[in-house]
Amino acid sequence: MLYPLLRPALFSLDPEDAHRFTLASLDLAHRLGLLGLLPRAAGKPVQVMGIDFPNPVGLAAGLDKDGAHINALAALGFGFIEIGTVTPRPQPGNPQPRMFRLPAAEAIINRMGFNNLGVDNLVRNVGASGFTGVLGINIGKNKDTPNEQAVDDYLGCLDAVYAHARYVTVNISSPNTQGLRELQKDEALDALLSAIKLRQSELAQRHGKYVPIALKIAPDLDDTQVAAIAALLMMHRIDAVIATNTTLARDAVTGLPNSGEAGGLSGAPVRAASTRVIRSLAHHLKNEVPIIGVGGILSGADAQEKIAAGASLVQLYTGLIYRGPALVRECVQSLA
Ligand code: FNR
Repeated sequence: MLYPLLRPALFSLDPEDAHRFTLASLDLAHRLGLLGLLPRAAGKPVQVMGIDFPNPVGLAAGLDKDGAHINALAALGFGFIEIGTVTPRPQPGNPQPRMFRLPAAEAIINRMGFNNLGVDNLVRNVGASGFTGVLGINIGKNKDTPNEQAVDDYLGCLDAVYAHARYVTVNISSPNTQGLRELQKDEALDALLSAIKLRQSELAQRHGKYVPIALKIAPDLDDTQVAAIAALLMMHRIDAVIATNTTLARDAVTGLPNSGEAGGLSGAPVRAASTRVIRSLAHHLKNEVPIIGVGGILSGADAQEKIAAGASLVQLYTGLIYRGPALVRECVQSLA
């Protein structure tokens, strides 16, 4: 109700300034107890990866990269929050500007480049939050780590976050870290997943708890590539797959201001490609590995489309920028 009134003011700011301002305001509203006044939808609880989710609508990775706003974001009514992508060491990300709005297409292009304060800082933030809801932690590699050593970055992050996460997402699908998507290819993915699975079982022993692992993939994959990834997910018994990240495609936005910016496109234009990948995954995975659907959800009907295509949970990011917190409620309601 309020958000449509605030949106023009936010959209008059640089997108990254608007992002910072919104999160600071949310934190303040949370501290003042105001977010508790937001109308809440009664969600339908679901169990996925052995975890009980109060409702199937989550916050997608990238909005709270350092886990600095977990409680305020959770107060918007999400069933789960995914923080990150975090890397072993802090890094500044790409030079600004690196985030662009395409309002006519209800879309964003970003080339943030995993700007974050490093995994130790994130773990401290999670501890300080005292959050007891479902928290996913999304891990990546530093920009200056060559792909041949990428596995070490993922294992280092996994070690650091394992005890603090309800699930961990291995992100190999950001288009903004050079060469990262190469890790989606057969041999590289096989090697990465076996190393991750081995470490997961060692960590499960050490900590006395099993923390599921999800793999996050790109929308820019054809059916043969999706089939190959699905086979590896089943072979390595990966606990879930998140489909999808942002797209490099621009056909849906050609000619619009900012459409020529480099980076990943999200929001309405990625919806169909993301749903296509979910449908293809569902076909190849035959219910063996649950799917978390993300990409272009701007309405309750869009959330239902992801579930109908085979997803068990959904996540939102760009839709929040265009629709505000009411979108969370609408999606939770439409999946109840
Ligand atoms: C993202 N996304 C993202 N994903 C991820 O795994 N790690 C990250 O650090 C980020 N960072 C990020 C920054 C910005 C500004 C945007 C818009 C997106 C991708 C996000 O989680 C999601 O997969 C896609 O944006 C598609 O969903 P939406 O935005 O269309 O709902």
